[in-house]
Amino acid sequence: MAKLWGGRFQKSTDKKVDDFNSSIRFDKRMYKQDIKGSIAHATMLGKQGIIPKEDSEKIVKELRNILKDIEDGKVEFLIDAEDIHMNIEKILIDRIGDAGKRLHTGRSRNDQVALDIRMYLMDETAEIEEMLVHTLTTIVDLAEQHTETIMPGYTHLQKAQPVTFAHHLMAYYEMFKRDLSRLKDCRKRTNVMPLGSGALAGTTYPLDREFVAEQLGFDAVTLNSLDGVSDRDFVIELASCLSLIMMHLSRFSEELILWSSHEFSFVEMDDAFSTGSSIMPQKKNPDVAELIRGKTGRVYGHLMGLLTTMKGIPLAYNKDMQEDKEPIFDAIDTVKLCLPVFCDMIATMTVKKDNMLRGSKGGFTNATDVADYLVKKGLPFREAHAVVGRMVFYAIERDKSLDDLTMAEFKEFSDIIEDDIYTAISMETCVNDRKVIGGPAKEIVEKAIRKAKEFINQQ
Ligand code: ARG
Repeated sequence: MAKLWGGRFQKSTDKKVDDFNSSIRFDKRMYKQDIKGSIAHATMLGKQGIIPKEDSEKIVKELRNILKDIEDGKVEFLIDAEDIHMNIEKILIDRIGDAGKRLHTGRSRNDQVALDIRMYLMDETAEIEEMLVHTLTTIVDLAEQHTETIMPGYTHLQKAQPVTFAHHLMAYYEMFKRDLSRLKDCRKRTNVMPLGSGALAGTTYPLDREFVAEQLGFDAVTLNSLDGVSDRDFVIELASCLSLIMMHLSRFSEELILWSSHEFSFVEMDDAFSTGSSIMPQKKNPDVAELIRGKTGRVYGHLMGLLTTMKGIPLAYNKDMQEDKEPIFDAIDTVKLCLPVFCDMIATMTVKKDNMLRGSKGGFTNATDVADYLVKKGLPFREAHAVVGRMVFYAIERDKSLDDLTMAEFKEFSDIIEDDIYTAISMETCVNDRKVIGGPAKEIVEKAIRKAKEFINQQ
């Protein structure tokens, strides 16, 4: 097949090189953005009198037909036509001849691909933002049911202090909310229109770049032609946002995997979200959570891959940059695969409240509260800390918990301890007296949930 750029060549491309060079296998997914961009470019060329108005109209009309034909599955892309940009241009030329040959006036594939990838990433980002809002909703709905579900909070994976499952869930709400705002922020920097940068040095044609930007819904145009075709920061930034989303999903998944174990037994995944073992008949494995945790590594890998691809290339365009697509596409696909299945998994899991409550006891999770009790009775905190430390040691030796100690035993450690100690260090008091902003007390978490719902409604 004759190449659109074949004029200065005496030989045709080696078959292996055609395959090697071609990106159509993966960049065909940008067909919509490519056509949209070309329609805006052609309209502008006609408006500026750079190409005849009739040609511009012919191009626009035929590009719309091509779009429809692609969507109806009637178009076959060719490896030898290299990429989505040249495939579409070639089809256009085959169909309308000379008018089609005028489309690429004042444009290079370098600014064209920069445009397409920006538009594609913005479209995908908007979809992921919606999925994140759904994730926030799922978390908040679940939290609403568990503001009284007491569970142990951990540090160093050692029981630390009691919290509620709602409070734990709302921690993830905060993380995914930040992920959402990061995506929106990243979209701002992606939302800049590079067409008109040409191959690297702009163009002599009187292009109306701002008109093209407006047609395509961009907020601004790029301000340096070299940068316009060389910049892939926005791809890397998105990969980093996606990595953080996966990191949060992965941490949550890790907890669910732990909690599904017989040792914890805090949750049980629904049968529809678990799988069995081919040999061990008793097994019910939290595979979905494990796969999400596993897929996180692949998204991180893409981030590192992208950073490494870009680190040594001189300005402006280099073919290396074609390697930006597979990683970012796969990172997007992975996040889009994980978020919905994660939501359905947590919405359908059984929460074993009794086991959570039982787990919150033992392990001296109320030791801080005994110290605080003493502080409220006048003891300086450091002294109280030491007294309770001795109490814990005493209790461990006798295989007791702090609330099992008798009043006589308590008095041995400090005579300011009274009968009210028992309510002061109950799990309920430990949780519900922590009324500080951001704390686990029922009323505080309920307030956080109300605020969260308001936020979600504004999205
Ligand atoms: N397929 C190429 C890419 O994805 C398009 C740009 C090609 N430009 C060039 N001068 N070869 O980066």
